Amino acid sequence: MDKLKLETADLSEKNIERIAKLFPGVITEIRGDDGKPKKGINFELLRQELSGDVSDDGGECYAFTWVGKKAAIAESNRPVRKTLRPCVEESRGWETTGNLYIEGDNLDVLKLLQESYLNQVKMIYIDPPYNTGNDFIYKDSFAMDKDTFEEQIGLYDEDENRLFPNPESNGRFHSDWCSMIYPRLRLAYHLLSDDGVIFVSIDDRELDNLKKICNEIFGDCNFVGNIVWQTATDNNPSQISVEHEYILCYAKSKASQDKWVVTSDKAMKIDRKYQELKAKYKEDILSIQKELKDWISSNGSELKGASHYCYVDQKGVYYPGNSSNTRPGGYTFDIIHPVTGRVCKKPDYGYRWTEATFLEAAGKGDVEWGEDETTVPKIKKRIETVTEMLKSYYYEDNRYWSKYLNSLMGARVFENPKSVTLLMRLLKFATKKDSIVMDFFSGSATTAHAVMQLNASDGGNRRFIMVQLPELSVKDSEAYRAGYRNICEIGKERIRRAGGKIRDEVLLENARLKAGEQKKVPDIGFRVLKLDSTNMKDVYYSADEYDQRMLDALEINIKEDRTDLDLLYGVLLDWGMPLSSKHQIETIGGVRVHTVDDGGGLIACFADKVSETVIREIAKRRPGRAVFRDSSFMGSPDKINVEEIFKLLAPRTGVRVI
Ligand SMILES: C[S@@+](CC[C@H](N)C(=O)[O-])C[C@H]1O[C@@H](n2cnc3c(N)ncnc32)[C@H](O)[C@@H]1O
Repeated sequence: MDKLKLETADLSEKNIERIAKLFPGVITEIRGDDGKPKKGINFELLRQELSGDVSDDGGECYAFTWVGKKAAIAESNRPVRKTLRPCVEESRGWETTGNLYIEGDNLDVLKLLQESYLNQVKMIYIDPPYNTGNDFIYKDSFAMDKDTFEEQIGLYDEDENRLFPNPESNGRFHSDWCSMIYPRLRLAYHLLSDDGVIFVSIDDRELDNLKKICNEIFGDCNFVGNIVWQTATDNNPSQISVEHEYILCYAKSKASQDKWVVTSDKAMKIDRKYQELKAKYKEDILSIQKELKDWISSNGSELKGASHYCYVDQKGVYYPGNSSNTRPGGYTFDIIHPVTGRVCKKPDYGYRWTEATFLEAAGKGDVEWGEDETTVPKIKKRIETVTEMLKSYYYEDNRYWSKYLNSLMGARVFENPKSVTLLMRLLKFATKKDSIVMDFFSGSATTAHAVMQLNASDGGNRRFIMVQLPELSVKDSEAYRAGYRNICEIGKERIRRAGGKIRDEVLLENARLKAGEQKKVPDIGFRVLKLDSTNMKDVYYSADEYDQRMLDALEINIKEDRTDLDLLYGVLLDWGMPLSSKHQIETIGGVRVHTVDDGGGLIACFADKVSETVIREIAKRRPGRAVFRDSSFMGSPDKINVEEIFKLLAPRTGVRVI
């Protein structure tokens, strides 16, 4: 409950409100005498509003800033003493999967992934909170001091991190959002490969701020485009009914970006059907023609319009392209009809192709001749070469995907998930079949679903990295009643169910297909990793504050609750190795040893005591890297001995202790 102030009103605040009504553009956010942000006036702008003359512009510069920007920049550079702990029980297909599901605040997670995924991610899609005034925003350490926090009613996530409502009445409503997104995008930038791109969903509330921030981080020369996505109709419009949102797209480097042209969906569907019919009717073109035509015309709105231009000949399905174009004057040569030997009818505006190109196509059987010379000949375009590009506008009623998710999960567990087909479309253009795809505001894990679905349809091996805060479900929500205590539980279960469905669909289709035509079941597994404090014991006190008991405890510098696997993943992060690396556990000389294959190979042994025999055995295998526990060696002579053994047997192996 708000407290009565028991003091007279701040008149300057009232005056500011009055000026805001007349000149809303001059309102800005400033720091008050107490250091807290509040609404203020940009006097330079106000002066310009009142004078009409452009004043001396000596101090002007083009810059985008907000209250807290410097702190946001500092935050993106601040190191974290945290780690990612593997959780095998909640994972699916731990040994074989290349996918990751990471639980935790994405700011910390993005920092932790900087080494392992630097320049590795081909596509990032994010759908951050839009700053509706009702979203909860995770407060980074810099954003608020303890007193301010206690003045406000905050929520906690599972790890007691603070989540805040960001109502519009907040004096730095936009600044807080900018401070939230800025460091995350800066960190994301480094993860993108040189030919990588990021798509960010947003609506009108923060579009202009987001674009300015992206221009600063990615460079405005790397702006690829802004997709308008028309969603469902606005049920409660006050003035203009808002029926769309945006997806901003930036490249890490537009110069290195691939050309985004893909075979059109429609063409791929027709081609798949044609391949099926070819297998069924062998070379019986007439039967294929008939059934394909019937199939196209009965196949719903998606293929509408295809029937009138699709033909089948011995070489496959094609549609006759135009042999002429609207460029006047290009018609300079005669085409002789192959049967009648007479000059064919000429198109109105000349030919698009040169004579040589036309004759070459004719030689390959790629010209559709009329019965005689009275019909203008046309160029055949094979259906699989009919391409499409990403467009700046799409319509898709998103209520479909809400209903879909409700039925997949058996309850209404997540509001407004994004569209799987929309994500698949972005993936199809912006990724290759083996790309890494990341979503660090993953919500119900729509991006993971789309990655698996696209892999199923084109045989790809794209891998996903989802990051999601374990934001608690509200007590009386449907999600809570259905047993989901936080959003991560929803995301993981969605991937399990969607993956199961995709696998079943592929198996069903395979049951109908012949041996050589079988489709691959995509990777539907994922490794779960959870953000936690560092594996190492914290050293809190100055040297003179230590007593003997504390020193004894410190000899073992690793926290008691940490397992071998925790330590292994800490090492992978530190050494910049992929978290999807395959690894095995084996026993050498009675102790457990982890071998990691990826990234030049790593052998790790975290046993309490490691004998010389074991060290020699590991060194003999000459791994790229070897790691042990510091406390495994009784004293420095043992440590020196390890170094000597490796120098002798595996001089190229990097040896470390933790
Ligand atoms: C708009 S939703 C994303 C919805 C998602 N695209 C889908 O289709 O389900 C944004 C998500 O970001 C999560 N989130 C907000 N702040 C976060 C943070 N700091 N770290 C990780 N996730 C966060 C929220 O919990 C929420 O689930």
